[in-house]
Amino acid sequence: MDNRPVGIFDSGLGGLTVVREVIKYLPNEQIIYFGDTARFPYGPRSITELRGFVFEIIDFLLSKDVKFVVIACNSASAAALEAAQQYYDVPIIGVIEPGARAAVQATRCRRIGVIGTQATISSGSYINAIKTIDAGVQIHPVACSDLADFVERDETTGPKVEGVVKWYLDSLVRAGIDSLILGCTHYPLLSETISRVVGDGVKLISSAEETARELKETLARKDKLREEKTPPTLEFISSGDKDVFRKLGARFLGKEIGKVERVVFPLREKVVGVEEG
Ligand code: DGL
Repeated sequence: MDNRPVGIFDSGLGGLTVVREVIKYLPNEQIIYFGDTARFPYGPRSITELRGFVFEIIDFLLSKDVKFVVIACNSASAAALEAAQQYYDVPIIGVIEPGARAAVQATRCRRIGVIGTQATISSGSYINAIKTIDAGVQIHPVACSDLADFVERDETTGPKVEGVVKWYLDSLVRAGIDSLILGCTHYPLLSETISRVVGDGVKLISSAEETARELKETLARKDKLREEKTPPTLEFISSGDKDVFRKLGARFLGKEIGKVERVVFPLREKVVGVEEG
């Protein structure tokens, strides 16, 4: 038993789609969510820069005494999951392996499409994760550089965003995929538009649910489930505008967001007590 909270973070609001599933699977867990909205988007950033952000955020979450960290961002998972797992003692999971596993289970024709940010797609992380499970699967990756920006602006339906989605996904439709990994935690909010473009025959895979399932299994296996009977708290922290976070975040989370705290980075030296070299 471990009654401490689970820390979950993303570059912005997208990771709240993961929080939504975690609440469904683990309704008794306390959650601290951090959205790095001031530094959104992560997609165009380098691996080195993203690693710095990830370490800084994990240090911050550890200062809040979390028992587990979920990197609910594909770009950050692609850039830094392995390095973070090697460095920290706290258990850490990302969103890429759970999504890859779900897609391999879903595909019948063994042709899978993957869409994500530039950072995620160019890292090759999905290709590696899928090939480890089934080396015979054909993978069609497409970087959709500005798609998450539409979501963060709350523009998820309509002719403009549909035109952009069509432009990005045309080659995937022609390749005859039957499963499409939404390799960015912002994309589940575009499901309706994406489905209209790719057709009902293509199953959309969001790693949010798979990640929540993996978190539940891991907490149980490590005997770290919360057992206190008092209602769990849900804490929201953002590096950017609190009102925007509260208003738009409710769409991602599927319910109202109460209080949001603002934390301005960089904080690392305050948290771990060392100067950056
Ligand atoms: N939510 C982030 C992800 O899953 C993408 C958005 C961004 O570019 O920051 O990769």
